[in-house]
Amino acid sequence: MRTTVGIIGAGPAGLLLARLLHNAGIESVVLESRDRAYVERRQRAGILEQGTVDVLRAAGAAERMDREGLRHDGIELRFDRRRHRIDFPALTAGRSVMVYAQTEVCKDLIALQLKEGGPLLFEAEALAVEGAESERPCVRFRYEGREDVLECDYVVGCDGFWGVSRSAVPASLSRVFERTYPFGWLGVLADVPPSHDELVYARHDRGFALLSMRSPSVSRLYLQVPEGTDAEDWSDDEIWAELEQRFETADGWRLDRGPITQKSVTPMRSFVHEPMRHGRLFLAGDAAHIVPPTGAKGLNLAVGDVVTFARALTYEKETGSTELLDAYSETCLRRVWQAERFSYDMTTLLHRAPDATSFEERLQLARLARITSSRAAETDLAEAYTGFPHD
Ligand code: FAD
Ligand code: DHB
Repeated sequence: MRTTVGIIGAGPAGLLLARLLHNAGIESVVLESRDRAYVERRQRAGILEQGTVDVLRAAGAAERMDREGLRHDGIELRFDRRRHRIDFPALTAGRSVMVYAQTEVCKDLIALQLKEGGPLLFEAEALAVEGAESERPCVRFRYEGREDVLECDYVVGCDGFWGVSRSAVPASLSRVFERTYPFGWLGVLADVPPSHDELVYARHDRGFALLSMRSPSVSRLYLQVPEGTDAEDWSDDEIWAELEQRFETADGWRLDRGPITQKSVTPMRSFVHEPMRHGRLFLAGDAAHIVPPTGAKGLNLAVGDVVTFARALTYEKETGSTELLDAYSETCLRRVWQAERFSYDMTTLLHRAPDATSFEERLQLARLARITSSRAAETDLAEAYTGFPHD
């Protein structure tokens, strides 16, 4: 098989890239190791930055998002039993975010790709990227019980943190910057209307909690739990009781309970692989970088990467110049490091580290007091949360 761009992975990065290339008249083939149902059900991100919303609209992939997505103009920070709202449009000249689940973004992009785009092969596992330094890189993959080769002009590794493409960059050229955290998130889906109409990020002595949503009738909730926790260790009653304590306010706010339909634990990690390009292999999304989820940045960064790649390749097709492709890694990494910084700041602001000293706890409260009493500090958070513009 032969194509212009071989895309490994049908998460948000790979699927959106295929769509952007299709719109630019550039051929691609997407290889995805899992089946369609798995990709469409995997519960992950929920928040789309303003820039991501704009990109999906421009790509003709926003029809259902515009009907069913929930525009949010703020979030609430909760600490010391008090509540503080951050008003995004007022602080950022009109920017906001959209609550629309990653599962739905993927479903919409898969449907479009199968209807209008190039091949998207499910249960096609990439085994290795070969010849990244040559003019003709290729992807070796397994499909329907046989090994095959996809010959390409370019390969884009959109295969997530556990994928194979990153390992095609020689170790002597790779630099990895990493931090792990001694806690994770227990995430649940519950059939109950969200108890607040905006997201609530709560800092509590017992640990962090987040109230989010998937629709007006489905809540998405997260609890900070110790590293290595098994979701089955927590009964539904224990989860609700813990959420109630962490969200408690002095003004009598109430958390409504409902049946929990899904629960899982996500570890927390900060990770950046540099460079994001080696020869004709480009890394995008979680294949190149991971952020802890507190800043809601992972999916949005993946979108930024593939927009940068699609623009660069379109420019090369139109002008013959590889200038933008050559700048890909540097261009992406500028945004990536800002998102790493913000995600780290939000994580350390709101979580309780198991070995935190009382001095560090006081500092956390001082940082929160600063954000909630200074328009400049609040603006800094609002700008980062709603997203930095694409270059
Ligand atoms: P992935 O979604 O990981 O997709 C990679 C794809 O590649 C997968 O489908 C995988 O099956 C496939 N693959 C892997 N190996 C191979 C192979 N060898 N061959 C073929 N295919 C392969 N981000 C936000 O922006 N906002 C949020 O609110 C947010 N919340 C989150 C909450 C949680 C609990 C979690 C876990 C993550 C959250 N994120 C959030 C992060 C976000 O989900 C990820 O950053 C995003 O999925 C990255 O997309 P991707 O396409 O790069 O990678
Ligand atoms: C969601 C996930 C996040 O990581 C976040 O910061 C906000 C919302 C969510 O899944 O809804």
